Amino acid sequence: MKALVLSGGAGTRLRPITHTSAKQLVPVANKPVLFYGLESLAAAGVTEVGMIVGDTAAEIEEAVGDGSKFGLRVTYIPQEHPLGLAHAVLIAHEFLGDDDFVMYLGDNFIVGGISGLVDEFRETRPDAQILLTHVPNPRAFGVAELDADGQVIGLEEKPQEPKSDLALVGVYLFTPAIHDAVRAIKPSWRGELEITHAIQHLIDQRADVRSTVIKGYWKDTGNVVDMLEVNRTVLEGQEPRIDGEVDEASQIVGRVVVEAGARVTNSRIVGPAVIGAGTVVGDSYVGPFTSIAENCRITESELEFSIVLRDSSIDGVGRIESSLIGRHVEVTPATGTPSAHRLVLGDHSKVQIRS
Ligand code: G1P
Repeated sequence: MKALVLSGGAGTRLRPITHTSAKQLVPVANKPVLFYGLESLAAAGVTEVGMIVGDTAAEIEEAVGDGSKFGLRVTYIPQEHPLGLAHAVLIAHEFLGDDDFVMYLGDNFIVGGISGLVDEFRETRPDAQILLTHVPNPRAFGVAELDADGQVIGLEEKPQEPKSDLALVGVYLFTPAIHDAVRAIKPSWRGELEITHAIQHLIDQRADVRSTVIKGYWKDTGNVVDMLEVNRTVLEGQEPRIDGEVDEASQIVGRVVVEAGARVTNSRIVGPAVIGAGTVVGDSYVGPFTSIAENCRITESELEFSIVLRDSSIDGVGRIESSLIGRHVEVTPATGTPSAHRLVLGDHSKVQIRS
């Protein structure tokens, strides 16, 4: 059994973070979201991974390397244009050969991994197996319609009028039957070869397509609210560990990780939270569900339910909540007159100011 991991795409929903960085590398609890997927593939007994990469290929390759740190062997397969998930299967045919495979979208997060699902597929071997989950906004996904017995009877990609609230999760299990299906379909209105249509083609051909509704938490991490939620879930499960320095005047409460080389002075950190290596927190409060990456500086500020990426500083600005802050960002007070907000914001930035 091989894996096809998709790590291309533009990540428009996560701008401006994804203007400069691949969406699959956005960290959750200070670890790229893609790494959780790779770890769960390794845990499911997969070793051969084809990694579809696009414009952000260099960055993905630098982060993942040859895959050996995950116990995987990674082969990179460039996709020149983001022409769809079924197009990715098309260009990976040589790599996949006649093997069964798991297709895993690199920006998806499945709590509890996929080992049980992969084992079940190995035993039962239907032509394809899809994962579904109930979502509040099915229009943003591929949507499945099931009959009274739970059999999949139809799939639609981002329908205007969804026939159910069951979204396709970004993990699919396929036998080589999918290769004919991806060759048989035409591009959708968005100009992509949709895997949803390829699976519909299998259903039309009376192939055995099964579905599993997963109840555990999962999110497509394509937007900020989802990112913060995934971060919260992962932090809740972390084991506390203080490898950095915490001075006498500071207080650490609950599941807090302070990485080696981090320094906390005269501050209160309430977990679950993680403070990355080389980060300094001084005269500040860091509240629950907060991940601060490496080499940041937080002084005289309060931060809660937020993610701060590496090399950023937040100095003397009061309280920040529900925020996603990119790399090399500086947040400082606006001093002097006139009393005004002074902003330098990149394209597609979003700022909410209390007036
Ligand atoms: C893709 C699929 C969609 C699926 C989703 C899960 O959407 O086309 O069917 O529900 O992944 O993450 P996209 O991320 O391309 O919008």
